[in-house]
Amino acid sequence: MAWDSISRRSFVGTAGVGVAALSAGRASGGLGANEKVRFGLIGAGSRGNQLLDTFLARNDVECVAVADVDDRHAAQTADRIKAKKGNTPTTARDYRAMLDSKDIDCVLIATPDHWHALPTIQAVMAGKDVYVEKPVAHNVAEGRAMITAARKYNKIVAVGTQQRSSSHFQEAVADVKSGKIGKVFWIQTWNFENISPTGMGQYADGPVPSGVDYDRWLGPAPSRAFNSNRFHLLFRWFFDYAGGMMSDWGVHLNDIALWAVDQKGPKTVYATGGIVTSNDNRDTPDTLQVVYEFPGTTLTYSMRKGNGLKFNGRDYGILFCGTDGSILLDRSGYEIIPDTTTLPYGIKEVHGDRPLRKIDLQPKKVLGVDGNPAHAENFIQCLRSREKPICDVEIAHDSTNTCHLGNIAYKLGRKLTWDAATESFPNDPEANALLSRKARAGYELPKI
Ligand SMILES: NC(=O)c1ccc[n+]([C@@H]2O[C@H](COP(=O)([O-])OP(=O)(O)OC[C@H]3O[C@@H](n4cnc5c(N)ncnc54)[C@H](O)[C@@H]3O)[C@@H](O)[C@H]2O)c1
Repeated sequence: MAWDSISRRSFVGTAGVGVAALSAGRASGGLGANEKVRFGLIGAGSRGNQLLDTFLARNDVECVAVADVDDRHAAQTADRIKAKKGNTPTTARDYRAMLDSKDIDCVLIATPDHWHALPTIQAVMAGKDVYVEKPVAHNVAEGRAMITAARKYNKIVAVGTQQRSSSHFQEAVADVKSGKIGKVFWIQTWNFENISPTGMGQYADGPVPSGVDYDRWLGPAPSRAFNSNRFHLLFRWFFDYAGGMMSDWGVHLNDIALWAVDQKGPKTVYATGGIVTSNDNRDTPDTLQVVYEFPGTTLTYSMRKGNGLKFNGRDYGILFCGTDGSILLDRSGYEIIPDTTTLPYGIKEVHGDRPLRKIDLQPKKVLGVDGNPAHAENFIQCLRSREKPICDVEIAHDSTNTCHLGNIAYKLGRKLTWDAATESFPNDPEANALLSRKARAGYELPKI
């Protein structure tokens, strides 16, 4: 192993503080314009390998370390890196080893949602910059702690809400904000598919696969027997580790809505739904309607997994409704659809005819651009410039919170009032109790 001494490594692991000055190395003053960025990957599953493809397509980066609690994922990913770039990264189950290395500038974190906050906070405390996947965290309190740590240790923490780096998402949001489609008073985001009734099926608990540190995979989540339906990839359908479709996909969609309305969060949230069409192990809903109130605008997130009829030709997307027209947006592109006005029912008979308002909006179709390469570029640039990334942790935290709020309103089954400034539900201890959870012993967040 090329790591620094065991004693310093265990210092990060146990105390988690004070090591920044020792290990910040190159990252402390920003990277030189021509220096290669050396990163470690934490979580080498599906998304971790997608990130690798994006980052390793560049000539100015090198992946020198891989950490995964599943030895098979770590080894396969190390082989891919060797095949792509020629170097053999170190591999480990415990990422804390890589946080001590002076040779690593930053870490990319693509672990399940319940494993975003702890490595992010430990990494910035150890002097590393971070790119962490969406949703920012498992709950609101964890996300806030990540911001506090990023600010205190003056580190870059960028989040994988890469749509913000797509030029067509940027153009569409600029069109909404400029008033091009008139007054935008309703935004609809949605995810529709039909996986009924089998879904992911029912699987019994079973033995932990060999080569897996399952206790560490559980980390801060409650202890329980191993089940393949709650493990790789499928963890997202369980509240212990994630937030279901609402936060898995909804965060990408609500992120764009929040950007367009330029708010930190809604004033109120109401949700209704349930597990009504799938007969599998999940405990997150397969059917959900969430209504968010913003000043002058309503946002609704609709999700169904029991019927795949597309909405406006798309199985997911964002629809901005303005008084002059609509903008329909997803990763494939966006469309401006001019509206026409009509006279209200009965008006001619009561008041006589009147001219219709003429809408002078031209239709437009723009092809989508993948945001991943530009998102990686923005992160690398920020490592050098020390500017805040396009999806700084606080921006993505606000978007992630809309998903936490949707899930909290769903669990409580009532309309909630939200104060985005204090990140709390005023005078509502029952709802406030769901903003955080007690981590399993040994996996608590460090004091920042
Ligand atoms: N930005 C995007 O478009 C996008 C796309 C897909 C997934 N994601 C996000 O990426 C994250 C990972 O999702 P996935 O689909 O790749 O899941 P996955 O199950 O395929 O991969 C997660 C990996 O993390 C490893 N892991 C778990 N705990 C660990 C720990 N403590 N230390 C090191 N490794 C650990 C697992 O063994 C696994 O290899 C999720 O938060 C998901 O929301 C983002």
